[in-house]
Amino acid sequence: MTLDQPHPDSCAFSDRDFSAIAEILHRETGIFLGDNKKNLVYARLNALVRRAGFGCFADYVAHVSARPPNAARQEMISTLTTNVTSFYREPHHFEDFSARVLPALLEKAKRGERVRIWSAACASGEEPYTIAFEVLRQAPDAGRLDLKILATDIDPEMVRRGARGVYAEAVAKQIPPHIRAAFLPENTVAPAAKALISFRQLNLLNPLPFNGAFDVIFCRNVTIYFDPLTREKTWQQIVSVLKPGGQLYAGHSERVSGPAAKSLKLNGLTAYRCTK
Ligand SMILES: C[S@@+](CC[C@H](N)C(=O)[O-])C[C@H]1O[C@@H](n2cnc3c(N)ncnc32)[C@H](O)[C@@H]1O
Repeated sequence: MTLDQPHPDSCAFSDRDFSAIAEILHRETGIFLGDNKKNLVYARLNALVRRAGFGCFADYVAHVSARPPNAARQEMISTLTTNVTSFYREPHHFEDFSARVLPALLEKAKRGERVRIWSAACASGEEPYTIAFEVLRQAPDAGRLDLKILATDIDPEMVRRGARGVYAEAVAKQIPPHIRAAFLPENTVAPAAKALISFRQLNLLNPLPFNGAFDVIFCRNVTIYFDPLTREKTWQQIVSVLKPGGQLYAGHSERVSGPAAKSLKLNGLTAYRCTK
């Protein structure tokens, strides 16, 4: 093979292909890809393009651009989203939730009131399960209360994995041993924790389909991927379904920006109380 021949395991990827892919991803998810992400996109999609039998990215782009949207487009979006997560990620949020927020919510639930918690970009489920573990540690009978956790993500594969609740050893061992023994025996989520959670596919760009409001929302490490305007709109939507006095947790490098910030008061590390 000479230097000017393409590598047999790669196919041509032009700036135009990159722009078309970035445009689809932005339109459908809010995720913004700067030009510096071209290599990343190539690395993530090359194998997929070849596996689907396309000789070059241009043909693949034409296929994923087709209307109505096809499975290849969903697969591309899933491949380009970053799904990194872990049990007890950013542990200060769970410490704060358990010490300051949860006791009052359990009091409410024990009085027969409704309590709702939302993990708004739950990836493969570690975040909502961590919430469930903390709930069950304080209230082993939580399943009898009107306390529910909603776990949503745009990526259907993530939602499936979350609902399955089975984790690799490397993932399970992130959990403190006594909590793991109680709630993740044989690396499978205990039925009591599963029963508290509903997993659903949901795109944060779309109008939110909820009737009631949430006592607590975890919306962490997703808006960092959005462009500034989408970020502001997303926070507005999130705050619109947060109860007065409700608690919001954002990711470690996220700050609520735009009009939503007027209804929130910082009360911890990237943690906010709703003041509306
Ligand atoms: C880095 S993970 C964060 C997981 C978890 N919240 C945490 O902090 O560990 C980001 C998740 O956001 C999801 N996501 C990206 N765009 C989204 C959108 N428009 N609506 C809903 N979820 C989205 C991705 O599929 C991914 O699973």
